[in-house]
Amino acid sequence: MRLLLAGASGAVGSPLTRQLIAAGHQVVGITRSQANAERLRTSGAEAVVADVMNRENLLTAVRDVRADAVIHQLTALRSTNVREAMQGTNNLRTTGTAHLLAAARAVGAHRFLTQSIVLGYGYRDHGPHVITEDDPFAEPAPGRFEPAITALRSTEEQVFSADAVEGIALRYGLFYGRDSFTRMIINLVRKRRLPVPSSGGGYANFIYLEDAAAATVAALEKGRAGQAYNIVDDEPVRWADYLDALAAELGARPPWRVPSWMLRAIPYLHTIMTITSMRVSNAKARRELGWAPAVSTYRDGIPLVARASR
Ligand SMILES: NC(=O)c1ccc[n+]([C@@H]2O[C@H](COP(=O)([O-])OP(=O)(O)OC[C@H]3O[C@@H](n4cnc5c(N)ncnc54)[C@H](OP(=O)(O)O)[C@@H]3O)[C@@H](O)[C@H]2O)c1
Repeated sequence: MRLLLAGASGAVGSPLTRQLIAAGHQVVGITRSQANAERLRTSGAEAVVADVMNRENLLTAVRDVRADAVIHQLTALRSTNVREAMQGTNNLRTTGTAHLLAAARAVGAHRFLTQSIVLGYGYRDHGPHVITEDDPFAEPAPGRFEPAITALRSTEEQVFSADAVEGIALRYGLFYGRDSFTRMIINLVRKRRLPVPSSGGGYANFIYLEDAAAATVAALEKGRAGQAYNIVDDEPVRWADYLDALAAELGARPPWRVPSWMLRAIPYLHTIMTITSMRVSNAKARRELGWAPAVSTYRDGIPLVARASR
């Protein structure tokens, strides 16, 4: 297939570009910078330079492009300002999706994959219930995360309801691998600057980046129209277990234990680590996409990220 990939230079876009090309697909990556366009060409992709938030700019840039499918992997999460990162990402999921659907029509694409995240099941304690794609997703939830939830609902609804396009949503777990977020966590753990709640924290669901990319290739080739797929590894893990394992692998001392209320000073961390707890199933992706994570738990993945950081 010939693909228009928005976010080809990003955390999941980079391994995805590599894997798509290896699987025999042709990739046209969208980037805002000439430097990243050059990098994409070096990796065997084609590139167009455009700002997806500027509809006219995007439609002009893809004027001569033809593609079978569009993949949306845009976020603004590299920004170190949390508010800016969240707001920018929400805009890419709402307005950005609308602009990319217009681009999909312009290039003749009949399939559209969008990036979503399992946190859309709700920033709360889901207890022992194993979450599947049949559980309610992105329900209105007044509070700090309402704009993020609304943006996830928007990107999914837009692609599922688009005319003449088969829409698929990939609800990824938390990424880890050779990305900026993992590097930041490693630095904090090395310096013992990332505390964990003494309760052990909630259950989180991770996915190694190369596996996230592999699931995306499988969804492109085999995913059913109008469906969402949870792309997580095989074992939800408590934050304390994950970070203790990372510290041990790095040869660092275990992270500080602090009472949960102390983490309230860092609201995002508090919500993700102590308020949110979920165990998400990847059974549907395994069954329908013929995909399985090669790095099936954090126990396999942590040595890989620790080695890469040396
Ligand atoms: N599920 C998760 O846990 C999750 C999900 C997403 C991200 N993250 C983490 O967040 C960190 C940053 O992720 P990332 O690399 O995906 O984010 P990023 O650096 O913010 O950008 C991702 C991609 O979006 C492109 N992009 C952003 N805004 C654009 C626009 N207006 N027009 C065109 N392209 C645009 C960037 O292209 P150019 O810069 O080349 O223009 C880049 O390819 C990583 O550590 C990642 O693991 C985690």
